[in-house]
Amino acid sequence: MITFDEKTGIFHLQNDAISYVFQLVRGRYLLHRYWGRRIRHFDNARTFLPLDRANAPQPAAWENERTFSLDVLPQEYPDCGHGDFRIPAFGVRLPDGTTVTELFYDHHTITSGKPALAGLPAAYAQAEEAETLILTLQDSAGKLSAELQYTIFRDLPIVTRAVRFTNSGKEALELTQAASCCVTFPDHAFDRLVLYGGHAAERSLEREPLGRGVTEMSSRRGMSSHQTSPFLALARPETTEQQGEVYGVNLVWSGDFALRTEVEQFGTTRIVAGLGDFEFDWHLAPGETFQTPEAWLCYSATGLNGMSQAFHRLIREHLVRGKYQRALRPILVNNWEATYFAFDEAKIDNLAACAADLGLEMLVLDDGWFGHRNDDNTSLGDWQVNLAKLPHGLAGVAESAHKRGLKFGLWFEPEMISVDSELYRAHPDWALQVRDYPNSFSRHQLVLDLTRPEVRDYIVESVCAVLRSAPIDYVKWDFNRSLTEAHSLTLPPERQGETRTRFILGTYDVMERITSAFPDILFESCAGGGGRFDAGMFYYMPQAWCSDDTDAVQRQRIQSGTSLVYPPIAMGAHVSVTPNHQLGRVTPMQTRAFTAMLGCYGYELDITRMSEAEKAEVRKHVALYKRLRPTLQLGKFYRLLTPFAGTGNETAWEFISEDSSEVVLMYFKTLAEPACPIRILRLAGLDPEAGYRVTDYWPAQGLSHDNAGVQHLELKDRTYGGDELLYSGLTVEKVDADFGAWLWVFHKV
Ligand code: GLA
Repeated sequence: MITFDEKTGIFHLQNDAISYVFQLVRGRYLLHRYWGRRIRHFDNARTFLPLDRANAPQPAAWENERTFSLDVLPQEYPDCGHGDFRIPAFGVRLPDGTTVTELFYDHHTITSGKPALAGLPAAYAQAEEAETLILTLQDSAGKLSAELQYTIFRDLPIVTRAVRFTNSGKEALELTQAASCCVTFPDHAFDRLVLYGGHAAERSLEREPLGRGVTEMSSRRGMSSHQTSPFLALARPETTEQQGEVYGVNLVWSGDFALRTEVEQFGTTRIVAGLGDFEFDWHLAPGETFQTPEAWLCYSATGLNGMSQAFHRLIREHLVRGKYQRALRPILVNNWEATYFAFDEAKIDNLAACAADLGLEMLVLDDGWFGHRNDDNTSLGDWQVNLAKLPHGLAGVAESAHKRGLKFGLWFEPEMISVDSELYRAHPDWALQVRDYPNSFSRHQLVLDLTRPEVRDYIVESVCAVLRSAPIDYVKWDFNRSLTEAHSLTLPPERQGETRTRFILGTYDVMERITSAFPDILFESCAGGGGRFDAGMFYYMPQAWCSDDTDAVQRQRIQSGTSLVYPPIAMGAHVSVTPNHQLGRVTPMQTRAFTAMLGCYGYELDITRMSEAEKAEVRKHVALYKRLRPTLQLGKFYRLLTPFAGTGNETAWEFISEDSSEVVLMYFKTLAEPACPIRILRLAGLDPEAGYRVTDYWPAQGLSHDNAGVQHLELKDRTYGGDELLYSGLTVEKVDADFGAWLWVFHKV
């Protein structure tokens, strides 16, 4: 999979789908040559033209060679200060105040498998599943060295990259920037795709032509954030969901980041992706090392779905660990939108009784069970049950849920501290803070200083004590504010610039210790909804709450955007009440149910107050979900239509089971339209030679006036050719109602 040709200096990382090529020139420089569809041999047909570009500086050793300049060369990991004026991949500050170093190739190793990254989440692989190339670069003045780490997967169109710096000199230095990767393309005929949003509106897709100069998608919130996502793709303008070239970059990191593109003077494009340089200053004493997070580079020749399916497989098969990697996820009811803080033991027990009656599988007790927390002002950090609300403790509610045949789940927010808490009264210095300025609040809470080992130990011990105290099957791990005054009272001045990064490393340490101590517990991460929905989190917790917005229409958008990178099984998605608590929208139960069926399905409303008719509908949806669950959670996922295209009025998703025998198709239409075209859905991924029998058909309620007196299409038990469904398509019935949802199930015959 990885070869090095000594004569040409070509490094070629290759599998059946992709090639990634770069070249060692003049014994020093690593220059990017190609990334894309697989090439058997890279024979330099795409050679560099040695042009004398005016104003382009020469490195000292080639003073008289005016055609050799770093200003134009596509460096694999560029520094600054020697004439490459584009975005650098890293930055340093030396004790004398200067910022110039010079990293040259020294040697490399190629090994099978993929080494872990100490203290960091990263994709993993067995020895036969991947190959790893490590190139060691040395500074010409001996101050610094760097290892460029590349892994190519045998069966995925993905290369991972990361970098490890070592201070190999005699004096301390500061790392002021440390990207995980840099890639150069010879042109800029691309659209740039990013995921943007806000609280309750996470991960919408924006697609715009890539323009000149520098663009940046980044977070400075200390979390991967609701507003941005550590993902960027460049797609050819003609690329669609099913066809065309796309290059996706995704970071395995949960804190601040920056994904930059630069289209420079000659029209080439550079991507630099990794840690941002916002308040980042890593002090590297002699002999110390710094490991960057991992970046994933995915190439697809089969459109955006090809990229998404590769990322989904990477996450499911090479990132998520433990018992729940392949286990089906339970259908839950969460009491948050049902009761908020106003619950007691009887209320929770009633919910459990009703959940069991409806066929649900787990009861989750959300925020408000600890300290004296009856609103969001208090008690974070005091992880002791509130006996006034739950007189028989957590064991009482958990055991009563178990007796009813339900699993039991519990909410925590471990990285936080309320000023009104026993913890803060005992340890006011444990919050992130600066000495001479007051802390800013967000939701009345402060953030614990996870750079401190004693704080991390407290979190691990107090959370583990609760998990040992009752039969708990699931944990929802929340994180409800971003970082401000992000400094530590214990770090020395030269290390204050490390706080934001150390905070995330501390979070990972705590998560690793708690999740590995409870391998049977299913963990779901959350951050005020989907504010930390990133690959870093999925290394520790196999699913995440997608958004605090449970409105079906908004969720179709959020979940479509999220699926660009993350698989359906990673997304927590619940049916909530109408009018919806976030948007006031009234949508049919069927639409709410089908929308939530994209992800780990659940209910988040007071089910005890539903009418008998509603309960009957819920029972039908629950039975349907249980039947389709293996296909929905473990199958291959396709976006056929997304709200980011056209008028945004339609969404269609398709799932194909792992053995290809079952296909689930869903279609959603937001607003009914006059004079609307008839929608025909062309399916994807079917076997054109096979037949597909319709085994379930759930049309949206309400037929068109044009069809008055006409029954719904009789589709059940009809068999259609795979080729017909792929190439000709399936008609969707017209319905005169807003917020419609349709679902079809096919079985291959
Ligand atoms: C966050 C979560 C919600 C809920 C509340 C509880 O906002 O996203 O689902 O758990 O916290 O305070």
